[in-house]
Amino acid sequence: MLEDPNIDVETLRSLEKSAVGVIVDKNGEILHQGPMAVRQQYDLYTEEEHDVWKILYTRQRAQLEEIGYPVWLEAGDRIGLSAERIPKFSDLRKEIKQKTGWQPVPVEGFLDAHDYFSYLAKRQFPTVPSIRKREELEFISAPDVFHDAFGHLPMHTHPTFADFLQLFGQTALKSHTEEEMIQMQRLYWFTVEYCIIDYKGELRVCGSGHMSGIKEARYSLTDEVTKKPFNLDDVIHQEFNPHILQPIMFVIDSYDQLYAAMQEMAERMDEKYPGEDEPKEPVHGSIFFIDF
Ligand SMILES: [Fe+2]
Repeated sequence: MLEDPNIDVETLRSLEKSAVGVIVDKNGEILHQGPMAVRQQYDLYTEEEHDVWKILYTRQRAQLEEIGYPVWLEAGDRIGLSAERIPKFSDLRKEIKQKTGWQPVPVEGFLDAHDYFSYLAKRQFPTVPSIRKREELEFISAPDVFHDAFGHLPMHTHPTFADFLQLFGQTALKSHTEEEMIQMQRLYWFTVEYCIIDYKGELRVCGSGHMSGIKEARYSLTDEVTKKPFNLDDVIHQEFNPHILQPIMFVIDSYDQLYAAMQEMAERMDEKYPGEDEPKEPVHGSIFFIDF
């Protein structure tokens, strides 16, 4: 499960090595650098691409009014997401960075798990600037700007979620074995990507896959989906198939609960490997399959 069947780790590593981007501003100051780092070339978006964003935003925003976590939607409005245009990362960055120190970093291509979590550990979120085609409104095979900007970025303004996500990256980097990395990926899947929250006695979706997925959001709250109370050990042992609508969801009561679970994971890792920050040989793997 760790590796995508179509891309082996060697290929991922060679891609990463050949594509470490350093993005500078007009004065030569480094804006960001890292694996797959690119520039969001905003002027190159076509009207067709802005239209696709508008369709996705309008449909999903309306649906989420009924079933989405309201705190998330308000945060999206606050950082400046709107139906009209694909957002400029530099505009979004201002509000997010000021609130929690997080920032979106434009990245294109497939990051392996180690590189992905390295970004999170620095409060940087790899954010894909490109957008899906009109014929992919309901399904995409790789993350795009709608998934990343609409689905992920708003919650980075939430102080507890912001701390949870950074600690997630730091803890995942301490994985010494493939099994530990798989457990972190399961935890990511069932918290960041797909998650349900008990909001004032009502179940609301609050995962990035839900927020950006038309079908997933609706389906998750139906009776066809088994909803389990969030429990760290259950989650890290729960297998999943990323290519189907998810039959199992975990229900949290707050982001405090997620942060506490991550602290527990971090403590377990520290107990296992005292005095070591990261293994000398990092554990690699594909995160491709969990991020769309
Ligand atoms: Fe994602």
